[in-house]
Amino acid sequence: MSADQVMFTLDESEQVTHWYNVVADLPTPPPPPLHPGTHEPVGPDDLAALFPIELILQEVSTERYVEIPEPVREVYRQYRPSPLYRARRWEQKLGTSARIYFKYEGVSPAGSHKTNTSVPQVYYNSLHGVRRLTTETGAGQWGTALAYACSLFGLECEVWQVGASYDSKPQRRTLIEVFGGSVHRSPSRLTESGKAFPEGHPGSLGIAISEAVEVAAQDETTKYALGSVLNHVLLHQTVIGEEALRQLTKAGEPGADVVIGCAGGGSNFAGLAFPFLREKLAGAQSPRILAVEPTSCPTLTRGEYRYDFGDTAGLTPLMKMYTLGHDFVPSPIHAGGLRYHGMAPLVSHAVHEGLIEATALHQNECFEAGLEFARTQGIVAAPESSHALAQARREALAAAESGAEPVIVVGLSGHGLLELGAYEAFLAGRLEDDPLSDADLSAALAGIPQI
Ligand SMILES: Cc1ncc(COP(=O)(O)O)c(C=O)c1O
Repeated sequence: MSADQVMFTLDESEQVTHWYNVVADLPTPPPPPLHPGTHEPVGPDDLAALFPIELILQEVSTERYVEIPEPVREVYRQYRPSPLYRARRWEQKLGTSARIYFKYEGVSPAGSHKTNTSVPQVYYNSLHGVRRLTTETGAGQWGTALAYACSLFGLECEVWQVGASYDSKPQRRTLIEVFGGSVHRSPSRLTESGKAFPEGHPGSLGIAISEAVEVAAQDETTKYALGSVLNHVLLHQTVIGEEALRQLTKAGEPGADVVIGCAGGGSNFAGLAFPFLREKLAGAQSPRILAVEPTSCPTLTRGEYRYDFGDTAGLTPLMKMYTLGHDFVPSPIHAGGLRYHGMAPLVSHAVHEGLIEATALHQNECFEAGLEFARTQGIVAAPESSHALAQARREALAAAESGAEPVIVVGLSGHGLLELGAYEAFLAGRLEDDPLSDADLSAALAGIPQI
């Protein structure tokens, strides 16, 4: 390695062969999901209407490693291993003694980490003759990733896009259509869950999930795919952290001091962080691991750790997670992918057990960091990812003050080239910080079921 190396790549022959399941190493087991009617732990049969058996088994697996099927690895090879970069120019701009590395998932066909799970999800469904997949999408990244994977394996893809994003990002919709998917504005008139809301309602991920689940449950040849939150989704994302660990070694770093990711439903964060958490639990490294969320949707930092539904209509199993309440409709902040009322049960459990930390940031600070990053590193980060950058910036500036030399690893979950409207609003000074008020928080929390 040269002293000023910037990009740390892995050869195709060094491709990760197994996903990592953190459940095997957690000091205490995470609480099981419950059936919404009986409040008993859900069994495989309860999930069979929505998911293929392989994903159900991964959902409940306690095995430490799950082999990645060759057809999935073959698609991964189109964009993985993704690069790990040392952000030297940004470090210089910040005047920091910290060493900042970012793991860049924007190189995937859909422009974000979401392809890491859309490909295996569609692959497993394709083994069972499934004709169509339904899903929700917030920012549009997940819908794009699923449409792409469906086009590879010959399935139809029908997406309910959160109304606020549908209205503000017509190009995302077009990209989903380019990959062969079809898109509905959520809440739509096509489902009972959608009809419960007035036309033109801005929507939420919770409502869009209800719509997609409702349609899948009514048709035997249709199944549902979720882009975050569930254990199997987090499992698929661990290729990010597994690669990053190997790449850090190539960069001559024995480990990370801080690992940072943005958290909407928790999947890119967990994908990067859980392999580092394994090292931490084994005593091989001791990083602080930090999830960053927006102050307008502060699930981990102000929500309650309770059983709640994953969707608005209450169609999903009850999951023990940090939640703001399934009725919560966040203000339409520009990081659409971070507007979710709940958080992955595994991420929630790890926060509750004190294994990882969480913090919330205002969106203007995040865009400021995003702009600085673009102007130094040349990459326009997705607004979601800019939350991780803003926290890395805080850590780097603290190091500049103290003279410490921490190794900071940041998850850059996607590019923001289709989110330029958000950057335009920021540059024009039109973005408002809109932290959740105590009154709105209490009203939303009151909707959590008493279990
Ligand atoms: C680029 C990007 N990052 C992060 C997220 C948040 O999702 P998760 O927390 O599951 O990674 C999204 C969701 O749409 C996204 O598009």
